[in-house]
Amino acid sequence: MEFKNGHLLSKLATNDLHGENSPYFDGWKAYDNNPFHPTQNSNGVIQMGLAENQLSFDLVEDWIKKNPRASICTSEGVNAFKDIAIFQDYHGLTEFRKAVASFMGKVRGGRVIFDPDRIVMAGGATGANELLMFCLADPGDAFLVPSPYYPAFDRDLSWRTGVKLLPIAGESSNNFQITIQALEEAYENAQKANIKVKGLIIANPSNPLGTTMDRDTLRSLVTFINEREIHLVCDEIYAATIFRAPNFVSISEIIEEVECNRDLIHIVYSLSKDMGIPGLRVGTVYSYNDAVVNCGRKMSSFGLVSSQTQHLLASMLADEEFIKTFLTESSKRLGKRHKSFTSGLEEVGIKCLKSNAGLFCWMDLRPLLKEPTFEGEMTLWRVIINDVKLNVSPGSSFHCDEPGWFRVCIANMDDETMEIALRRIRMFVGKIKDLDSQVQNKRWHRNLTLSSPSRIYCETSLSPRMTSPHSPIPRSPLVRTRT
Ligand SMILES: Cc1ncc(COP(=O)(O)O)c(C=O)c1O
Repeated sequence: MEFKNGHLLSKLATNDLHGENSPYFDGWKAYDNNPFHPTQNSNGVIQMGLAENQLSFDLVEDWIKKNPRASICTSEGVNAFKDIAIFQDYHGLTEFRKAVASFMGKVRGGRVIFDPDRIVMAGGATGANELLMFCLADPGDAFLVPSPYYPAFDRDLSWRTGVKLLPIAGESSNNFQITIQALEEAYENAQKANIKVKGLIIANPSNPLGTTMDRDTLRSLVTFINEREIHLVCDEIYAATIFRAPNFVSISEIIEEVECNRDLIHIVYSLSKDMGIPGLRVGTVYSYNDAVVNCGRKMSSFGLVSSQTQHLLASMLADEEFIKTFLTESSKRLGKRHKSFTSGLEEVGIKCLKSNAGLFCWMDLRPLLKEPTFEGEMTLWRVIINDVKLNVSPGSSFHCDEPGWFRVCIANMDDETMEIALRRIRMFVGKIKDLDSQVQNKRWHRNLTLSSPSRIYCETSLSPRMTSPHSPIPRSPLVRTRT
């Protein structure tokens, strides 16, 4: 349903800057209409567009069972109910902030110590990112962001704040690593266009690439922002998803080594990915700038973490033995999943960007494109959704400059579902190869189909613009897709 009475509402409520009008969300519609279930709907669409870490739930559940006093909703813990359920101010429970600070240190290998008094609460990293923008920039000011980048940055950083995002072009030729030349170019282009650049935001480890930035790169970014007196926001939400070398280097380590004005450095963190609990909405801003901490605290009133959640997590995160086991085991499981998925793809010649972190793979499907354009990418994507029945996310939704890359999430399903997804991909590629060898002139591009020979590859029934689920009534796909 369109907003027929748009004139009755604010410009914010009726503009498109939330980013949900992307054709990308049609994948969610296809999934919602026909979700895969191993026994009840085995031909349904498998959800591979959701960056959730569901591989270590059992560990958290075990801990909860063994620690009933940590919850105010058990007979063992209910005595704390009245103290926890009453009004809590925006500083957060002291024991919660302490536990989060200590957890952040552990995730970074114990190489840095975080001060609990610098922790500002937010509703997930989503709230933390927006809160920082409100603190650091005015409407019309800009932040630079290396592309490809997390699609919901458009919503989180820009929609309500009016801050512009200016992409720094990334290229496959150097594995999409940020270069100082590209950074300088983006900065200078903004200057020429009279746009005030207030900072640079990076996601390290990266969503969608699953790669981490090395020490030298981070050092040069700090030097860059320091020389220009602009901010550096580091979204480190995937810090504990590293499953193989090289290790994660946090910006908090770099500023111990490089001379810089610490007032310019801010970390965004959340337990959504590292602990696999995005539903609990635990986000934090960790700023080295006192004024940002002070102002951020006041702003955090709009997105506090429920005191019940703070209470529970204060105990869980303070359990050193549990956290040690959890972090080791979670990264082991992620590594195993990544290996089995990427090896399965390699068997049929599909390559992924070499990565060491994250809950996804950045899959290179350029060889399967009918033509090397974004239209070609969308055409292939529709086939993958409608015929192969996998909801993967096209690179264009991550503002990738090169067509043919797809993000595929691998940690939100069990082993059996992943095997089915791999089997479908193998079948799909097998059909293409068969057709290729049968028809020398690659006529498969015109005739490819998996299920029905009469369907034409480039004319699938889903028309992106027309079928986007924009109605305000159904649950918003953005809420989950953009993770
Ligand atoms: C880079 C990045 N930042 C922030 C978020 C939002 O996380 P949260 O669920 O904590 O709001 C995500 C979720 O996918 C993300 O990938």
